[in-house]
Amino acid sequence: MFTNDCLNVNESGHLTIGGCDATELAAQYGTPLYVLDENVIRNTCRAYVNSFKKYYDGNGMPMYASKALSCMELCRIMDEEGLGLDVVSGGELYTALKAGFPPENIHFHGNNKTDEELVMALKHNVGKIVVDNLEELERLNSFAEKLDKVAPISFRIKPGVDAHTHSFIRTGQIDSKFGFALETGEAYNAVKKAISYENVCLKELHCHIGSQIFDIQPFVTAAEIMMDFIGKIKNELGVVISQLNLGGGFGIMYVDTDTPVPYENYMEKVSIAVKAKAEEYSIPVPFIFIEPGRSIVGEAGITLYKAGAVKNIPNVRTYVSVDGGMTDNIRYALYQSDYTVVNASKANQKPEMTVTIAGKCCESGDLIQENVKIANTVAGDIIAVLSTGAYNYSMASNYNRIPRPEIVMIKDGKPRVIVKRETYDDIIRNDI
Ligand code: LLP
Repeated sequence: MFTNDCLNVNESGHLTIGGCDATELAAQYGTPLYVLDENVIRNTCRAYVNSFKKYYDGNGMPMYASKALSCMELCRIMDEEGLGLDVVSGGELYTALKAGFPPENIHFHGNNKTDEELVMALKHNVGKIVVDNLEELERLNSFAEKLDKVAPISFRIKPGVDAHTHSFIRTGQIDSKFGFALETGEAYNAVKKAISYENVCLKELHCHIGSQIFDIQPFVTAAEIMMDFIGKIKNELGVVISQLNLGGGFGIMYVDTDTPVPYENYMEKVSIAVKAKAEEYSIPVPFIFIEPGRSIVGEAGITLYKAGAVKNIPNVRTYVSVDGGMTDNIRYALYQSDYTVVNASKANQKPEMTVTIAGKCCESGDLIQENVKIANTVAGDIIAVLSTGAYNYSMASNYNRIPRPEIVMIKDGKPRVIVKRETYDDIIRNDI
């Protein structure tokens, strides 16, 4: 059972991605290797763009959350597909700008932006700075004044919605380091302050309730709560906020028990709720932004490793060690995330062996997945971990001075490198 249609098995019994034999990719480019299918990425972008056309008169824009995977080629693809970009650090902003991404379509996020990051965002005229807290609002207003600018801003609001997902990736509830709380009045007071400041212009309200969510109802509830707040601001302060950003968080398939909903169902349901609230408060239907990250790149990617030692500990377990690990995929170590693992060299064979896939780091917790069933595996086999396009490369590290793998993108059956493999010289580049 594979997680996406871009994956298949060829006549040699090998796993294929985007029509390319995974074992040949591994031989040509080396392992570990991240592989992405460009058609899957572009099709998902189009599904989001079309959902706005179909259910919301095109009155919205998906902003790719580049924390899921940031590199220049992906920024170019997002621009070509008509998406904006959500960046969350100076580094992600720099990547986008160097890729020639139009700054007006960039939103700058973060719960603790530095002075340098705020000034960088202002100087490059990013489309919006999503303000997280009052201290930041004040700093931003004074930097904008010095630069003789009026910064277009949004406020990150905690709508108090509990999305059922891992507690580390749940963000909309009151106990979260992100944003202004609604129920305490904090958000309302911040809006009043922003209106009184001369060098910021409050254009949008933003919320993000969490990540890897399958249920549409929490998104609808969050949208209604946000619209109620926009209505209150209009009624009590006479200010109309014309843009609403509903964040990202749409779930993908990691294993066959995951049940993602078609992404257009989201806009279908949310648009009904938002339009009804706009009528209730006699305000114009807002322009809507959403910020999908994982769902754009997640299922489009796999990671290929070469199996090394296969260690059977009788009555305990069998470890298959691979030539990567928590340095290229920390998600099991961090969140016990599920993944589907396939022996790409024997993808036509029955998964009969129950194994734990271990990495090569000097760390017992360096596991990719425990107790997975794969075809009988020996050293030299190519092991594929599926749905690794999001939050794998972007969360990679150089622990144990292991160089980060390269990323190969496949388009119409043709692979090309979009991020080079790090070398040992890269590892020591900043050492004095
Ligand atoms: N917008 C905001 C403000 C966010 O904080 C996030 C994710 C997104 C959009 C994109 O959410 P997505 O569509 O990708 O679910 N490292 C974790 C995920 C952390 C997500 C943080 N914020 C993981 O590997 O599961």
